[in-house]
Amino acid sequence: MENNRPSWTSRCSFILAAVGSAVGLGNIWRFPYIMGQNGGAVFLLIYLCLILTLCFIPLVAELAFGKFTKKECIGAYESVNPKFKFLGMLNPLTGILISSFYFVVGGWIINYILINFSFSQITDFSGYFSDFIQNSYAVCVYTLLFLFLCIFFTARGIKKGIEFANNILMPLFAVIMVCLISFSLTLPNAYLGLEYMFKPDFSKINGQMFLAALGQALFTLSIGMGALLTYGSYIKDDKGITKSAYTIILSDTFFALMAGIMIFPAIFSFGLEPNSGAGLVFVTLPYIFAQIPNGNIVSAAFFILLLAAAITSGISILEVDVAAFSERLKISRKKACTMLFGIISLIAIPASLSFGVLKDFTLLNKTIFDFLDFITSSFLMPLNAFVLCIIAGWFLHIKGILFTRSKFLGWLFDIGLKFVVPAIMLCLLYVGLK
Ligand code: TRP
Repeated sequence: MENNRPSWTSRCSFILAAVGSAVGLGNIWRFPYIMGQNGGAVFLLIYLCLILTLCFIPLVAELAFGKFTKKECIGAYESVNPKFKFLGMLNPLTGILISSFYFVVGGWIINYILINFSFSQITDFSGYFSDFIQNSYAVCVYTLLFLFLCIFFTARGIKKGIEFANNILMPLFAVIMVCLISFSLTLPNAYLGLEYMFKPDFSKINGQMFLAALGQALFTLSIGMGALLTYGSYIKDDKGITKSAYTIILSDTFFALMAGIMIFPAIFSFGLEPNSGAGLVFVTLPYIFAQIPNGNIVSAAFFILLLAAAITSGISILEVDVAAFSERLKISRKKACTMLFGIISLIAIPASLSFGVLKDFTLLNKTIFDFLDFITSSFLMPLNAFVLCIIAGWFLHIKGILFTRSKFLGWLFDIGLKFVVPAIMLCLLYVGLK
C-alpha cells in the first residue's frame, strides 16, 4: 500500500503546495481584520515573535510526523500505537468542520467577483453585504460552487490536481498582489496605513492580543488539522523538513504583511476605520473600490486573488479527508471526493444559511457558522496541536531524527515540543472554552 502512495514531483512543488495551504483567507481576510481589531502595529509585533519562533515547533512536528510515518493522519497516529487511532480521527473531523465554514466564505468571494459586472449599481455596500448573506438561494449555490471547484482539483490527485492548481494559482496570486500593492501605495496619504502597521504604541498591549495572535498564527499556518501531516506524508525521503518549515513560515508571514500593505493604506487614504471586523474585506474594501475610476477592475482583481488563495487552502483541507477516506476505506480518490462532497454539503449548507433563514437556530448561543468557527479555532485545533506535540515529542522522539548537527538546537526544540507548546495549547483551550 505504502509504495503505491503518491509523492510530490519535486521539493519545489511540495513547498508551493504547503505555502498554498498556508496562504489563504487567513492571510487576506482574517489577518487584516484581526490586526485592525487589536490595535495594529503592537499586535503585528507580537504576532511576528510568535510565528517566527514558537509556531515553528508544531509546524515541524506535523510535517515530520507525516514524513516519517508516510500515512494519512489516522494511520499515522495508529502506527505510533493502535490505541491512538481515535486521536488521529479528530483530524479529518476537524477538516470537515473547518471546511464547512471556510467554504461559505469561499462562496461569498465568487459572488463578489461576479458583482463587478454591475458594480456601479451598488451604492450601499454594508446593506448589500447583509442582504446578500441573507439570500438563502445565492449563498447555497455559491458555497456549493466553491466546494465543487476545490473538490475538482483534489479529485484529480496530487500531481494532476493539487500541484497543477498550485502551479497556476499561486503565481497568479503573487502577480495580482504586486499590482494591487503598487496601486494602494500610490493613493494619497498611504503612509498613514503604513504607520498604523509599523509604528507600535506599546500602551495598547494586553493579554487578549497574545491569544488573538496565537490563534491567528495556528490558523494561518494550517496547524492542528492534519493538512501538513498529510502533505508531509507525500514527501520523498531526502527532503529537509526544518528548512521547508522556515520557508513556509517566512512565505506565509510575507504574504500576510503584503496583504496588510495592500489593504491598510487604502483604508487610511479614504479616512475609514480599520476595526470593522469580518466585514473589512467585504464592506470596507468594496466601498473604496467604488470611489476610484475603473474600481470594478481593481475589485475583480482583488477578489480573484482572494479566490485563488482560498482554493489552494481549501484543497489542503479536503486532502486530509480524501487521503483518510481513500486509504482507510480502500476506495478511489474520486469516490472519496464524492462522499466528501455529500458530507460537507450537509454541514456547509446550514452554515451558509446562518445569516438568513437559520439565524435563530443556535448551538451554545451561536449561529451554526459561528459555532463551527468557535469549535474548530478554540477547541479542536488547539487540542489537535496539543496531541500532536505530545505524541511527536514523547512517543516519536523526532528531535533525534531532525536535529543531528546541533545538540543545543535539538534540546531547545525538544523542550518546546514536550512542554512549552503543549502548555500553551492547554492555556489556549482553557481561555477559549471559558
Ligand atoms: N491556512 C489557511 C488560511 O490561512 C486555512 C487552512 C488551510 C487551514 N488548511 C488548514 C486552517 C488547516 C487550519 C487547518 O486561510
